[in-house]
Amino acid sequence: MKKKVSKIGVLCSGGDSPGMNACIRAVVRTSLYYGLEVYGITRGYSGMVDDDITKMESRSVANIIQRGGTILKTARCKEFFSYEGREKAYKNLKKRGIDGLVVIGGDGSFRGAQTFSNEFDIPCIGLPGTIDKDIAGTDFTIGFDTAVNTAVEAIDKIRDTADAHDRLFIIEVMGRDAGYIALHSGIATGAENILIPERKTDVEDIIRSLEEKEKRKKLVNLIVVAEGDQFGGEELTKLIKERMPLLETRLCILGHIQRGGSPTCFDRLITSRMGYSAVECLIEGRHNVFVGIVNNRMHYTPLNEAVKKKQRIGEEWIRIVKILAT
Ligand code: F6P
Repeated sequence: MKKKVSKIGVLCSGGDSPGMNACIRAVVRTSLYYGLEVYGITRGYSGMVDDDITKMESRSVANIIQRGGTILKTARCKEFFSYEGREKAYKNLKKRGIDGLVVIGGDGSFRGAQTFSNEFDIPCIGLPGTIDKDIAGTDFTIGFDTAVNTAVEAIDKIRDTADAHDRLFIIEVMGRDAGYIALHSGIATGAENILIPERKTDVEDIIRSLEEKEKRKKLVNLIVVAEGDQFGGEELTKLIKERMPLLETRLCILGHIQRGGSPTCFDRLITSRMGYSAVECLIEGRHNVFVGIVNNRMHYTPLNEAVKKKQRIGEEWIRIVKILAT
């Protein structure tokens, strides 16, 4: 029989993602609905180690569902990598009687939660907060939809200039280890080529296809590159400029604009469902899992499995890119 949870701590960890606030709101309001106390932990695991923890009420999360960033702030905490750091964090939770934890973050944050829950008697629930969508066990992650829509809006604007000047634009989007933002935004904007870290980049093939498109006077050429691709935007631009000096080539790095901004309706909905479900998991004794959504249903993956797997990009996506870009 799993221990009953009565006081919940909630934190955001790793890179921020749009929808984290909507998620915090759902965790706080669901906890209060069930008569539990809920505590906001500032700056991720750092707030646990440094004892930066505040009791939250319903009003604490008023007027945040539409805001990007996170009212709890977020951080990557070095001290939490050591046992001493985690023990310090545990004592800070324990003295307030916090006996359940909701961690909103990416796979690195889940790793921290898994280690912590193995060492101490505090069950943890992970919620997938990352724009990268690289966590296996969920169809969507918190902030991915917003980030992709931000990228699409920007690339559509760049297309106007590409068209007006007959230029090639290389657009670098986020994704240090994952190509989902590049893939989705690239397909949605009709990019000629999409380069992602999960696949080897064949520069010769790109040059060949650009030369062929130049011959048949194709009007707009956009290449979307994930920052973690083996070349990345800058190197690819340099290579193409060297090989095709007559082609007017420009690079645009979208950067952190993809991480901020008001979450889309879709992100607000999934985060509300996930936050609610995390509290239900703690109450029902479904501990040390992360909550995802698969085929529009809540899906629970044990944290120790979640940290071993990455979401893969299927071959069919690549076929779609090739067929539609001709
Ligand atoms: O949130 C994930 C991510 O956006 C990656 O795609 C990117 O490489 C990284 O964060 C950037 O992190 P930072 O803000 O620490 O530079």
